Amino acid sequence: MNLGAKKVFIEDIRKEFVEEFIWPAVQANAIYEDRYLLGTSLARPCIAKKQVEIAKREGAKYVSHGATGKGNDQIRFELTCYSLYPEVKIIAPWRMPEFYNRFRGRSDLMDYAKKHGIPVPVTPKSPWSMDENIMHISYEGGILENPKNHAPDGLFVKTKDPSTAPSAPDVLEIQFKKGVPVQVTNVRDGMQHHTSLELFSYLNEVAGKHGVGRIDIVENRYIGMKSRGIYETPAGTILYHAHLDIETFTMDREVRKIKQQLSLRFSEQVYNGFWYSPECEFVRSCIAKSQELVEGKVQVSVLKGQVYVLGRESPQTLYNEELVSMDKQGDYEPCDASGFIRINAVRLKEYHRLGKKVTAP
Ligand code: ARG
Ligand code: SIN
Repeated sequence: MNLGAKKVFIEDIRKEFVEEFIWPAVQANAIYEDRYLLGTSLARPCIAKKQVEIAKREGAKYVSHGATGKGNDQIRFELTCYSLYPEVKIIAPWRMPEFYNRFRGRSDLMDYAKKHGIPVPVTPKSPWSMDENIMHISYEGGILENPKNHAPDGLFVKTKDPSTAPSAPDVLEIQFKKGVPVQVTNVRDGMQHHTSLELFSYLNEVAGKHGVGRIDIVENRYIGMKSRGIYETPAGTILYHAHLDIETFTMDREVRKIKQQLSLRFSEQVYNGFWYSPECEFVRSCIAKSQELVEGKVQVSVLKGQVYVLGRESPQTLYNEELVSMDKQGDYEPCDASGFIRINAVRLKEYHRLGKKVTAP
């Protein structure tokens, strides 16, 4: 209000964020370039959706954001706004020449803010950009722009240093229904955590205590440049491992292969800002369908920056102990395997017959 705003809305949309954005990502095992669990990417459509809702309600024709002109966030915010409020006009100061010619970087902006009494959380002591939500925090820019520089001491806020984390694990039992966690039990104290927000926060707490969920990566931005980022995703990391386990335990092999491809597409769509696109809606509905029987419990141990799967159980598993057992016959004739292998070998024999001819000296 001190800066001249007429009205301010501060909304708690953590529940929507967890249920409508994080849960589909957990179901998908969404991961960008093999490492990034998409904590910022997922938050953007969630924030912009609420922003648009308020803009419409208030009759505002313009929305604004503070993302730079070089990043992913501008794309994610704006694609969401245009999807949900097609007539809206967007003000992106970082892309306006009168702005970027005057402020040549973050230090110019900090000087300006100081001079005009505008409070900003970034200080010269932590000269990097931070973006935080209930799923993750990212650190980018400033001294981190040199990819060789290590994360300085004291950078991390969501997780403890794994090397000084407790040497006794926490053992958790995570129960899934339709690929979504519905209950977390700490095996030691028997405490149970149920609702989406509560169990997610509890997983953040346990993972944070044990230093789980840190990554340091160079990634490819949609805009075409590489950037260096350091991220913490505590609860998301536990859920990634636990969900992967229960999914493999319950899902048909061939369905899983297709779903894995969809997951890759989904991750890219989310990263690139296309949450509200026809392709992402299509992929999300296929992934949701694949999760119908993904249920059961996974036990994990959380220790020194790691998540170890200890065991799992499910009423819907395709695992058949009798069938696979080395001590029982089950409904299976071992001699059939000889034919199966010989038929598979037909193609290989043909290939090597030809290969011999071609490569022989
Ligand atoms: N590079 C990550 C992403 O594209 C994190 C972006 C962080 N955004 C920020 N405004 N600090 O999702
Ligand atoms: C920004 O450019 O505002 C942050 C980084 C990104 O969006 O990729």
